[in-house]
Amino acid sequence: MATPFAGKQILFGITGGIAAYKAADWIRALRQDGAEVTVIMTEAATKFVTPLTFAALSGHPVECDIFTSTNPESIPHISLAKQCDLLLIAPATANTIARLANGMADTLLGCIALATRAPVLIFPAMNSAMYLHPASQRNIERCKEIHYTIIPPACGAMACGDQGPGRLPEWPCAQAAIATALSPQDLANQHFLVTAGPTQEPLDPVRFLSNRSTGKMGYALARAAKERGAIVTLVSGPTAIPPPWGVKLVEVRTALEMQQAVSEHYPTATVIIKSAAVSDFRLTQSSPQKIKKNSAEATTLGLTANPDILLELGNRKGASTSPILVGFAAESDQHLEEGQRKLLQKNLDLIVVNDILGHDTGFASDTNQITIIDKNGGQTPLPLLSKDETAHRVLDRIKHMLNS
Ligand code: C5P
Repeated sequence: MATPFAGKQILFGITGGIAAYKAADWIRALRQDGAEVTVIMTEAATKFVTPLTFAALSGHPVECDIFTSTNPESIPHISLAKQCDLLLIAPATANTIARLANGMADTLLGCIALATRAPVLIFPAMNSAMYLHPASQRNIERCKEIHYTIIPPACGAMACGDQGPGRLPEWPCAQAAIATALSPQDLANQHFLVTAGPTQEPLDPVRFLSNRSTGKMGYALARAAKERGAIVTLVSGPTAIPPPWGVKLVEVRTALEMQQAVSEHYPTATVIIKSAAVSDFRLTQSSPQKIKKNSAEATTLGLTANPDILLELGNRKGASTSPILVGFAAESDQHLEEGQRKLLQKNLDLIVVNDILGHDTGFASDTNQITIIDKNGGQTPLPLLSKDETAHRVLDRIKHMLNS
């Protein structure tokens, strides 16, 4: 599977709330992610932002009315409704939600909602008192009953100065909800445990032993699994990237902390992906004080091997079929031989091998080129892909194993 947005047709309904201006950024972000966006606006929305703004940002004419189509050849509410992969409504006012809840067809947006068979994703945004009013809450419940997905608003300061629920969520939350709506929920009911990032082994209160892992590959796997319906726990070493929206983040620093977190979550996991770059060694004795430049400790580091967490998981799993265990092997030479050896040694179902010296692959890069090796020795080399796309390919392979 490619990333959820690639080539998807999104019909973006904008209604008349003050947050309408935020839709401009969402449209740009959706196009950047590879989606085609067509905007429809209610009459009230055009009082806040002109259709011209959204036409320029989306690259398509904006439709506002049932009777004055920009394309007289087609009936807009039917052709738009048929073409789209998703009807997204943001911001959705109390008025529009009331209309949708009752199946009213007196606006172009109302007609499209009735005519489309694509999923409908609604982001209510309004003053908190309006949102919390029993009439709005009842209408939201009705929308849910007719299988529209409602993404609750964020809490915070309103444009009118009030505080409470009613703000349009920030883009990362919206992006995750839209990606989920566009993805097959083919990993629903699976519990993924993903490890990511480096570990840091302290030398003293200011220094540590670590590696160049940024966590990008592991975070991409966690995000992709979440989009496809899995419950995801992400055990992460220190990274500079925000956690994917909707995953449970367990922050750790050292290999021993990661070992404990992974062991605690093992019993509920159906799939474990160990993409973290765990430090093989820690200091035998880390110093409670900052090591002085000219002390003996400054030139000689006593090291102790860290536990191999994945090897322990492989032993714990033994001959059982669950959980599926997936390892990563970052290698600089003899990649496939090393991958095969680790897969057998650690009792894995799959190992993902990548060449850390390759161009545009491995640490810190946004792309990766991997080979997936399975326990029967089968090798699947993938082309150079974004880490998001690579993640989906790895998940496709895991899904296949879960199904068989
Ligand atoms: O043996 P090597 O460290 O190359 O194996 C890499 C795989 O083992 C990765 O999946 C990594 O997360 C895992 N690993 C681990 N504990 C270690 C070292 C590596 O779980 N101490």
